[in-house]
Amino acid sequence: MTRTLVLDDVTKAFPTGTVALERVSLSVAAGEFVSVVGPSGCGKSTLLRLASGLDEVTGGGIEVNATSTSYVFQEATLLEWRSALRNVELVGELRGAPKADRRRRAQEALDLVGLSGFEKQHPRQLSGGMRMRVSIARALVAEPDLALFDEPFGALDEITRLRMQTELQSLFALKNFAGLFITHSVSEAVYLSTRVVVMSGRPGRVVADIPVPWSYPRPPELRYEPEFAALTGEVSAALGEHS
Ligand SMILES: Nc1ncnc2c1ncn2[C@@H]1O[C@H](COP(=O)(O)OP(=O)(O)OP(=O)(O)O)[C@@H](O)[C@H]1O
Ligand SMILES: [Mg+2]
Repeated sequence: MTRTLVLDDVTKAFPTGTVALERVSLSVAAGEFVSVVGPSGCGKSTLLRLASGLDEVTGGGIEVNATSTSYVFQEATLLEWRSALRNVELVGELRGAPKADRRRRAQEALDLVGLSGFEKQHPRQLSGGMRMRVSIARALVAEPDLALFDEPFGALDEITRLRMQTELQSLFALKNFAGLFITHSVSEAVYLSTRVVVMSGRPGRVVADIPVPWSYPRPPELRYEPEFAALTGEVSAALGEHS
């Protein structure tokens, strides 16, 4: 099994003296969806920035075995003057793909996230959840081997959030990329992931790495099962001990 992302004994100290991450080792293979939960300020966004190459480690090493990586931020970062379709199409444009081809792919990606019929709308004409779906469509249209998510559903209301989780795990079942997903929500982490990594308070260290057994696609009702509650309890306990 190829390990798409490997963090080996990674430490990140900022010039300000803040040590954000301390000796973090973590790997994500194709077909794995790994969530990282941890208290605010423990270095989760820093970890994702390092994985994406936006920043550099100060100790240890990072290996990325992916031809394409995409990054979904907490806020949908869309271009206001472009329609939903043309926002998603941008990826193909930047790669120099022929127009018909990139348009077809963008349309497929929008269909996949349930936005058929909204192609021509501009971001301000869409709800927060819809904007986030455009962001996810844009990330997936790149056919990434590695998909990085930094609390993408953090700003959404509970109902939309649950719906987005259901959609994302069925997309994962379909596309089988390697996923690294940051979240504050223990139930979100358990519902979405093949593994949940728990981090301590700053400096962030890995304190637990808990496998999640269920296959995909996962029904929304899974969240009400006793086994689900047992796993979220295990993750919460690990969080509570080390925050
Ligand atoms: N560019 C920077 N320069 C100095 N310190 C930084 C920088 N970026 C982050 N930090 C510090 O590193 C620590 C970890 O920040 P990070 O954003 O990774 O936390 P986080 O786990 O994502 O928190 P949250 O859950 O609140 O998003 C914090 O103490 C923060 O102040
Ligand atoms: Mg963060």
